[in-house]
Amino acid sequence: MATAIRSYAKINIGLKIGPKREDGFHELRTIYQTIELADMVRVDFQRGVGIDINCKDNRVPSDESNTCWRVADRVLKALKTRGKVKITIEKNLPVQGGLGAASSNAVATMIALEKELKRQLSAEDRLRIAAEVGSDLPLFLMGGTVLGTGRGEQVFPLQDLPSFHCVVATPDVGVSTPVAFAEWDKKWPAKLSRHHLTDPDSSDRINTFSRSVYEWLNGSNFSATGVPSQGWDRAEALLLDLVRTGIENDFESVVFPKYPAIREVKRALERSGAKYVSLSGSGSAVYGLFTDQETATQAARQLSENDVPAQATVTLPRARYWSELFPAAKTYEMGRDAKIG
Ligand code: C5P
Repeated sequence: MATAIRSYAKINIGLKIGPKREDGFHELRTIYQTIELADMVRVDFQRGVGIDINCKDNRVPSDESNTCWRVADRVLKALKTRGKVKITIEKNLPVQGGLGAASSNAVATMIALEKELKRQLSAEDRLRIAAEVGSDLPLFLMGGTVLGTGRGEQVFPLQDLPSFHCVVATPDVGVSTPVAFAEWDKKWPAKLSRHHLTDPDSSDRINTFSRSVYEWLNGSNFSATGVPSQGWDRAEALLLDLVRTGIENDFESVVFPKYPAIREVKRALERSGAKYVSLSGSGSAVYGLFTDQETATQAARQLSENDVPAQATVTLPRARYWSELFPAAKTYEMGRDAKIG
C-alpha cells in the first residue's frame, strides 16, 4: 500500500542576502516557518526498477530534474536498495512561489519512502541528501520555526513561534530565484569579486539580521510551548515587535521594482489589517500575519475577489508539523485553530 504524506509549505520571516561565495551561492540568514498549506505526496515501493513521477500539473517535471526524483534516487543508493518507486504529487501549492513546494515535496518523498522500505536513514544521511538536492530542503526535516544559515541549508530549530493566522497570496507571476539573486548582485556589486567573502557591507547586513532576530525573539517573552502566556495580546506584541525590529526580506528590493503587481499585493494585505506582511523567499508569494481569523479570512476573500489567488491558513509549529504529517494521524479539529495563538 502506498504511503501518503502531507508536504507542507514554508514562508520566510525575514531574509538577508550576504556575500556571494566562491561556489556561486549567496550566504543567507533567514527564519523559515512552516505553514498548514500543503501538497499531498504518495509514495509506493514495488518490485521492478525506476522512479515514476505522476502529477496532473504538467509544469511539474517527471524526470531527473524533479527534486523528488533526485531524493528518491539518493535514498535508494544510501540504503543500497533497488526497486520501483512511484511518486504521485497532488498539487495545491503554487509551482514557483517562494513557498518551498518542490523542496517540501522532495523531503516528503524521503520520509514516505523510508516508511515504505521500513528502513531509516541516519539523521546525517537525511540532512546530507536534502542539502545536496537544494538549499531549501533541510528545513523540512525540522519543521516549525527554523533558522537558516549558509546557503539556507544549514538549519537550526528555534523556539517555536505561536501559531499565527496567515494569508498567503500567490500572484500569477513566476519569479526565478537565480535571476533574483543575479538582480541582487547587480544592485550590490561587490567591490572586488575575489573579496566577496569578506565584503564588509554584506557581512554587516548578515550580522545586523542575526542581531535583529535575537532581539525580536528575546524581546517577546513567549512560553516554551509556543503558546503565548497571555492569549492573543502576546501574539500581537510578538508581531508588532517583528515590525519594530525591522526584520525584512532583501528580495523585495529587487523583485518589487520588476513586478510592481507583487508590491501591490503587499500593500493590499497591509490595508486589510495584517500586522506583518512580506514576500516569501524570492516570491511571488506574499503573506500577511494576522492576530485573528476573521480579519485573515476577510483579507483572503478580498484578494481573491480582485483576481489574486489567496488562502487563509495558520503557521504550523514543530509538534503539529510532525504529528499531522501522515493524514491518518490527523488528530485535531479545524475549529481549534481559531483559538491557537
Ligand atoms: O539550492 P537551490 O537549488 O535552491 O538554488 C537555486 C539557485 O539559486 C542556485 O543555483 C543559485 O543560483 C541560487 N542561490 C544562491 N544562493 C543561495 C541559494 C540559491 O545564489 N543561498
